[in-house]
Amino acid sequence: MAREFTSVGVVGLGTMGAGIVEVFARNGIDVVAVEVSDAALDRGRANLTGSTDRAVARGKLAEADRDALLARVDFRVGLDALRSVDLVVEAVPERLDLKRRIFAELDRVCKPEAILATNTSSLSVTEVSVATGRPHQVVGLHFFNPAPVMKLVEVVRTVVTAAEVVADVEALCTRLGKVDVTIGDRAGFIANALLFGYLNHAVAMVESRYATREDIDAAMKLGGGLPMGPLALLDLIGLDTACEILDTMYRRGGRDRRHAPTPLVRQMVTAGLLGRKSGRGFYTYEKPGSAKVVPDESTPAQARPAAGDGARPVARVGVVGVGATAAGLDEVFTGAGYDVVRAAPGEDLAGLAEVDLVVEAVAEELGVKKELFASLDGICKPGVVFATTTSSLPVIDIAMATGRPADVVGLHFVGPASAWPLVEIVRTVRTGAEATATARAVCATLGRTAVVCGDRAGLVVDALLFPYLNDAVKMLEAGYATVDDIDHAMKLGCGYPTGPFELLDAVGLDVALASQRALYRELRDPGLAPAPLLEHLVTAGYLGLRTGRGFRDHTGR
Ligand code: CAA
Repeated sequence: MAREFTSVGVVGLGTMGAGIVEVFARNGIDVVAVEVSDAALDRGRANLTGSTDRAVARGKLAEADRDALLARVDFRVGLDALRSVDLVVEAVPERLDLKRRIFAELDRVCKPEAILATNTSSLSVTEVSVATGRPHQVVGLHFFNPAPVMKLVEVVRTVVTAAEVVADVEALCTRLGKVDVTIGDRAGFIANALLFGYLNHAVAMVESRYATREDIDAAMKLGGGLPMGPLALLDLIGLDTACEILDTMYRRGGRDRRHAPTPLVRQMVTAGLLGRKSGRGFYTYEKPGSAKVVPDESTPAQARPAAGDGARPVARVGVVGVGATAAGLDEVFTGAGYDVVRAAPGEDLAGLAEVDLVVEAVAEELGVKKELFASLDGICKPGVVFATTTSSLPVIDIAMATGRPADVVGLHFVGPASAWPLVEIVRTVRTGAEATATARAVCATLGRTAVVCGDRAGLVVDALLFPYLNDAVKMLEAGYATVDDIDHAMKLGCGYPTGPFELLDAVGLDVALASQRALYRELRDPGLAPAPLLEHLVTAGYLGLRTGRGFRDHTGR
């Protein structure tokens, strides 16, 4: 029989702590909600009422249920209030010394049989547990933000946690309507270990002005299918929390420089730009705690390009290629009212002499593309914009095969074939403003969201997505968690539409490996080295859905 938890304590009522209080109280459990001071308690109470009021406003919670929920919460200052609870969940800032001090104090105050849990996302649960005289009764209980919405709880079992304590906590998660994944004590556990390298990379993109915050977020929502972009998510998590998690992951997780907090994150934390909770982070919000983004000085002046921004008129479009992408482009451009001329590489290209834009979708080989553009240079009229659909080759190499590199852009159509909700426009170091403006205007006419980025391997979406997939393979290879647990964690903890292994099998392991190799070749960052397991599966011909087997066996389906 699993232990009955009738009353629990939550220490720290910030974003996560208040969310955890809400989860318990909503499921009929009495909560003693503890803070260090009256002022902090007031802020914690406001966090809870703000969230429950929103739930009422959205019809997720009846008013009477909200009142009952709030009546189950006893707000108190000081840990002494936790004498009689069955379980305490600590959710104070991510500092080991602070957590160890609190756990030593909890050990003194709480009844001997009480379970002590930490909501840490990256610190060692083992190190926290040995600050008490009952390390076998200490577990990690890691909720995800927003706690009332995200279904996942990572239960972290240390080498000393008693089996029955883990079982009791797992049963409690089920009672809370959560799905638990039980794992060992490793920096970042499953979800954060896969999430934070990606988030930090997105920050580095902003810092280096590779792409704007709006474009990076739009790219990952539309091109990656994620519920929110990485910068909006960092604002939700809180930049101070994110910085502490990154720092710990860097130190505990093998000093992978992808986890070393990007200087911009630290600067923003120092400046008090913490995200939604302070009213300003990567975006500016209506007021502290609000989810509503308001315009600020970085907001683009207009969503769509206006006349006079240098865009050249485009009426006739040339599409070069014989494959599915070229056929899809033909359909998309024709559907938007353009006069389309199709041509096959290696054949007579004279029909392209009068087009205003050429989009090529020939073989993804640099030599083939350079040869094509060199020929087009001799055929097409002045003022034409040349576009390549490559996502892995340097556009500048292709541009320099022509005598007019200022007129060459990348146009990478992203997403399911022909739906292509997103287009990544690649601007090389030689691309002129008119060519970029023309590409933007054409994408607007096609009804596609365009994002502009620099000329780097993987552009925005693949550069952020494939290293995350590669990290998931490395985690599997290390024996830390199973394919199912990792997929579950990302779907239920971070709202991803598919888990990394589902995505790898769908995209093709060979495609993922080729992209990862291109990223590694360009940056030479050891953390980007392709996972040996991925290489082996590709060598073995296990390429995913296409061959019936990848990380999962699809033959019986
Ligand atoms: N109680 C009950 N339901 C609630 C609620 C509450 N307090 N607050 C919101 N909801 C409901 C909403 O009513 C809505 O329901 P419907 O979809 O049925 O309408 C749903 O939850 C989603 O909420 P919103 O409508 O407010 O917002 P949204 O649809 O734009 O989604 C989001 C917001 C859930 C945050 C979504 O964007 C998402 O999943 N983002 C990813 C979040 C993520 O990755 N979290 C993990 C961060 S990492 C972490 O937390 C670990 C760490 O250690 C830092």
